[in-house]
Amino acid sequence: MYYPDELIEEIRMKNDIVDVISGYVRLQKKGSNHFGLCPFHNEKSPSFSVSGPKQMYYCFGCGAGGNVITFLMEYENYSFQEAVKVLADRAGVQLPQMEYSQKARREESRRAKLLEVNKEAAKYFYYQLRSRQGSIGYQYFKERQLSDETMNRFGLGYSNKYSDDLIRYLKSKGYTEDLIRDAGLCNTDEKHGMYDKFWNRVMFPIQDINHRVIGFGGRVMGDGKPKYLNSPETEIFDKSRNLYGLNFARTSRKGNMILCEGYMDVIAMHQAGFNQAVASLGTAFTSGQASLLKRYAPEVLLCYDSDGAGTNAALRAIGILKEAGLTGKVINLEPYKDPDEFMKALGPEEFQKRLDNAENSFFFELRQLQKDYNLSDPESKTNFHRAIAKKLCEFSEEVERENYIEAVAQKYNIGFENLRKLVRSYAAQTGLVKPVERPKSGIQKKTAPQDNVLRTQKLLLTWLVDQPQLYPKIKKYITAQDFSEGLYRRVAERLFADLDSGKVNPAGVISMFEDEEEQREAASLFHTKLVSMENDQEKEKAFHDIVCAVKRNSYERDSASLGTDVAALQRVIAGKKLLEELNKTHISLQ
Ligand code: GTP
Ligand code: MN
Repeated sequence: MYYPDELIEEIRMKNDIVDVISGYVRLQKKGSNHFGLCPFHNEKSPSFSVSGPKQMYYCFGCGAGGNVITFLMEYENYSFQEAVKVLADRAGVQLPQMEYSQKARREESRRAKLLEVNKEAAKYFYYQLRSRQGSIGYQYFKERQLSDETMNRFGLGYSNKYSDDLIRYLKSKGYTEDLIRDAGLCNTDEKHGMYDKFWNRVMFPIQDINHRVIGFGGRVMGDGKPKYLNSPETEIFDKSRNLYGLNFARTSRKGNMILCEGYMDVIAMHQAGFNQAVASLGTAFTSGQASLLKRYAPEVLLCYDSDGAGTNAALRAIGILKEAGLTGKVINLEPYKDPDEFMKALGPEEFQKRLDNAENSFFFELRQLQKDYNLSDPESKTNFHRAIAKKLCEFSEEVERENYIEAVAQKYNIGFENLRKLVRSYAAQTGLVKPVERPKSGIQKKTAPQDNVLRTQKLLLTWLVDQPQLYPKIKKYITAQDFSEGLYRRVAERLFADLDSGKVNPAGVISMFEDEEEQREAASLFHTKLVSMENDQEKEKAFHDIVCAVKRNSYERDSASLGTDVAALQRVIAGKKLLEELNKTHISLQ
């Protein structure tokens, strides 16, 4: 289902970005911009700016940025379409209904119905827990030291002893048997017919990031089996793409997320102030959940049970985190079994210490690996060192690998050069990663040249958005072709077309992209930090340098691809001429 571009543009323009964001963030006007504390990362002084004239926001601290649609996508976690819909409603713009296919409409209303019946069930359980027949459940939670506030916050409930009262209640509210069944709220068998899935359990509603109930976990209040009963997967409950507690954790802005095993762990952590805690949903941690976490924090602290099963689960999770590009660390709870017990025994301050001392996941892995070897036996010890070397091959980036080799050599008292040689020979054998190259000199190059190229391109785009009057002066020299392929070039194409027609519209450029990451990147192109300069002369020189650099890089790119590309040859010839001319040309900023 796609809305036409003009409609999206209309909706965007009818929702002033300063108005919309003011509903979420306290903004203060400074010059033509508004500033506030960034809602996407933890900060003490405001680096989050919202520009009325540009209709864009940008955070100089974390790089979050985009237009009003991006903001809702990032903040509310809406899809592009959802964000557009909300904004259309807000501005009173009618969205075309025919754009929905019959099928899409049926599916949407079905999802809405499933959410509704879940919510009704959650309300029912919630009410039961707080009524007389639910006192056994309430007592259970009290004994586990949950406060009323915590119980309310997590919407905890109780399913009572009758095995059909929920079904009867839901039916009385007009929900059909089919819907109740499809929501996973009942079981059916030949002998008993339809009966409640959950009874005589304390209930944990599972919410998605927008606080909508998508399923339940129910726990026995003693030692019965199974300890937990969870809703089955349904059309609205995908266990591999949701996390318990994420609806609260996602706005915790602690710079990390804490991954626990159980619902009770999450609740205990939140009650103690660690509101960045989440847990998977009775199933193993998945890569889908890892990428979900990655949206909110770069680092995940594992807080799994300290027993064998917990350790194995942690080892698996570490691999998944690594693949997703997240940094993993492991919190040591010894001598306690899980975070819930730890918190009760030692309290939040001690937990904070454990958190600060969380172990690098690679060292955690090595420590577990070591248990399989006997270090007092030279042969076993050698095998352990070999295993370490093999593991070190997992780091494909040379600098990182070298740093780890150094750290591991020191920690395990292995000769640095020996370990390095061993790693190199394994790397060569397995071909997993490039063999370590000896640096030719002691100094290693830090910034890739590619970064500088992109940076000048960004600078140029920022200049042009800030001062569109400069465009006609450089138009002769610079085209979208001069930008690197992909996103940069697409943005330049669109921006130049806008400039040609005399209306700069950076916020409109952003909505060309439906993907949040792309929107963010596009926004960053218009928000490079321009160094403040003394006088116009300096500014002129800076701008001239940027234009020349962009042209030169593009010329060099073309030259490098000569021989394979005829069009490039023509561009090279033309580019050389223009570059020479440009070098001699004065561009005034007026
Ligand atoms: P408490 O024992 O109440 O402290 O629970 P917990 O939240 O600490 O759970 P535990 O560490 O025992 O288990 C972790 C998670 O695994 C739970 O939150 C459930 O999601 C899931 N789980 C535990 N037991 C069962 C079970 O018997 N069946 C199913 N399907 N899931 C379970
Ligand atoms: Mn527990």
